[in-house]
Amino acid sequence: MTAEYTVHGDVAVITLNNPPVNGLGHATRLGVTDGLVKANADAAVKAIVITGAGKAFSGGADIKEFGSPKAMQEPNLLSVILTVENSAKPVVAAIHSVCMGGGLELALGCHYRIAAPGCSVALPEVKLGLIPGAGGTQRLPRALGVEPALNMIVSGEPVKSEMLAMLPGQKLFDKIAASPESLAEEALALARSVADVRPMPLVRNLPCKHPQGDAYFQFARNMVKGMAKGFPAPAKCVDAVEAATKKKFDEGMLFEREIFIALMWTSESAALRHIFMADRATSKIPDIPADTPQREIKSVAVIGAGTMGGGISMNFLNAGIPVKILEMKQEALDRGVGTIRKNYEAQVKKGKLKQDKYEQRMALLSTTLSYDDLTGADLVIEAVFEEMGVKEAVFKELDRVMKPGAILASNTSTLDVNRIASFTKRPQDVVGLHFFSPANVMKLLEVVRGEKTAKDVMATVMALGKKIKKTAVVSGVCDGFIGNRMIEQYGRQGGFLLDEGCTPQQVDKAIEKFGFAMGPFRMGDLAGNDIGWAIRKRRYTEKPDMKYSRTADLLCEKGRFGQKTGAGWYDYVPGKRDAIPNAEVVKMIEDHRAALGITPRKISDEEIVQRLVFSLVNEGARILEDGIASKASDIDMVYLMGYGFPIYRGGPMHYADRVGLFNVVQAMNRFARNPMDDAKFWQPAPLLAKLAAEGNSFT
Ligand code: NAI
Repeated sequence: MTAEYTVHGDVAVITLNNPPVNGLGHATRLGVTDGLVKANADAAVKAIVITGAGKAFSGGADIKEFGSPKAMQEPNLLSVILTVENSAKPVVAAIHSVCMGGGLELALGCHYRIAAPGCSVALPEVKLGLIPGAGGTQRLPRALGVEPALNMIVSGEPVKSEMLAMLPGQKLFDKIAASPESLAEEALALARSVADVRPMPLVRNLPCKHPQGDAYFQFARNMVKGMAKGFPAPAKCVDAVEAATKKKFDEGMLFEREIFIALMWTSESAALRHIFMADRATSKIPDIPADTPQREIKSVAVIGAGTMGGGISMNFLNAGIPVKILEMKQEALDRGVGTIRKNYEAQVKKGKLKQDKYEQRMALLSTTLSYDDLTGADLVIEAVFEEMGVKEAVFKELDRVMKPGAILASNTSTLDVNRIASFTKRPQDVVGLHFFSPANVMKLLEVVRGEKTAKDVMATVMALGKKIKKTAVVSGVCDGFIGNRMIEQYGRQGGFLLDEGCTPQQVDKAIEKFGFAMGPFRMGDLAGNDIGWAIRKRRYTEKPDMKYSRTADLLCEKGRFGQKTGAGWYDYVPGKRDAIPNAEVVKMIEDHRAALGITPRKISDEEIVQRLVFSLVNEGARILEDGIASKASDIDMVYLMGYGFPIYRGGPMHYADRVGLFNVVQAMNRFARNPMDDAKFWQPAPLLAKLAAEGNSFT
């Protein structure tokens, strides 16, 4: 059992003990009900305290039971709360550190609540596409007042206990303890002081009204609609809280339950729950135990103060880690530091960064022109020109000067990290850290594990990724790593679609309607079409039998590189990012089609979306087979955090699972029969074919 039962004089204490955050899994729930039975049966016990061991009162549902039948196995949380309410002896919740979700719902079922100051209190279910499902929407408005309760339920954000205790008329906390240390003693004293009070107070019996009633809820609905971005749960939070003001308590509970179960089945909630788990799973590397020792990173050096070097540096400055940037010339250093300064100043202007914080960060930054100044750094990240020769020279220098045990990282986006490692006499210390542009903004960090990269280096950089607030995903060494290797197939499909009859706008619109932040052609214009051009030119000689549309090359031959040249697939007005369709580009596409003897056909949005998304899925499956990614959910995180894949669809691999792999394979077979497409590419990856045949899924 994961709850302990102890008796302190005339008070029984039930201590939730299910590390790390006392999740309310089946064994813990049983521990609570057993404790209540024992306490009620013991004549020497006059009152009961429920509290949590370690770092939390309770963080809520046990994620190990997420979505499984075990979550509802009796006693489920609703039954536990009912048992608390029906206890013949008063139950006091002694709340500290973290009290969230089911943990708060349990506390709301208790007769009294005392909280330590500084405790984070929340009903975060909305973040998983749900509403609280064990009375949270019915009890919190009664205890706290309708408006503050709805704010908490709709936002899912934590609020500090002492802030909540200041709300006028609140009945959530009967007392705030003097300090976290005195909570246990004060809870025992409170329990003793109420031991004989009858009838015992219950939150369910408190009145629940809003003075403006309908008008307030109409206002709340309008507010929520604007912010919900296509997710159904926030509006349902409003419905449930409104029910608390209009229905009898038990009817409100049933209403909440109906909504909760309906939301549980939505694809949006499934996606959010998948992402929650996928995010935690990124840091688990199959052959690297969680307790692998880490190297200490107290200072960082960055080579190259260009687009990436500057952004990369900012991440570490923001985390309070000193950075030294090296360049070849003073002008390049000055330019790089100037850009960092400008970025911070923009944040200060917008009120997002305080002046003193800005100064503190800049004070952590230093520059040099000499490698001999870098010897003290624990980690060096190279972000120089993307040429093997340049990388070779840099890594030979780094090998010469860096202290033993320092980590040598490259931000290369296309080059072979194993080769880069071989330029040094310490390949075990070399790793790829592939940031995305703008590196101070984008959440994704691909950690490229070389053949010889040491396990403690991997453990160190994964932890460091967390410290600089990135989603770090491990990739093996291959051309393009996870993200760009997949995007190449997606881009190729975009080209075929143009040749067959689409306009860039049609393709972009279709995939943007699906939920992508930006379609492939707008994305090309933003990133620079010349980058893809350079890669294709390399491919034409490296992989001569790979099929490509040449339309994008024609565009580049016209110098239409995208936003930076004011013209790409679309036109751009200086200072604005709006993509304006261009008739000449459309004509260029049509002429090319005619020259190839292709009669254009009308292509449905559905086909566009399937070809683009399933190309990601098929390449993703190959990436799994090749062991470049260790799990499908890592691929999803790369696409969600780095490529604008719609959050509510959970990433390409999760999306394929939801569509059903059988259906995905059928569609691929259809695409393979299209003579304009690449039949070889559309052969389902063996892993995908196998899972589909077994009726299985990636996850
Ligand atoms: P950039 O051209 O903006 O900056 C490169 C900087 O490195 C320049 O300031 C240059 O003076 C300096 N540099 C060149 N050789 C040097 C040397 N031997 N010693 C010291 N400094 C030297 O290039 P960018 O875009 O920052 O790219 C850098 C690296 O990051 C490349 O490997 C690139 O593939 C990779 N990358 C770029 C992304 C992007 O979106 N721009 C995204 C992810 C990775």
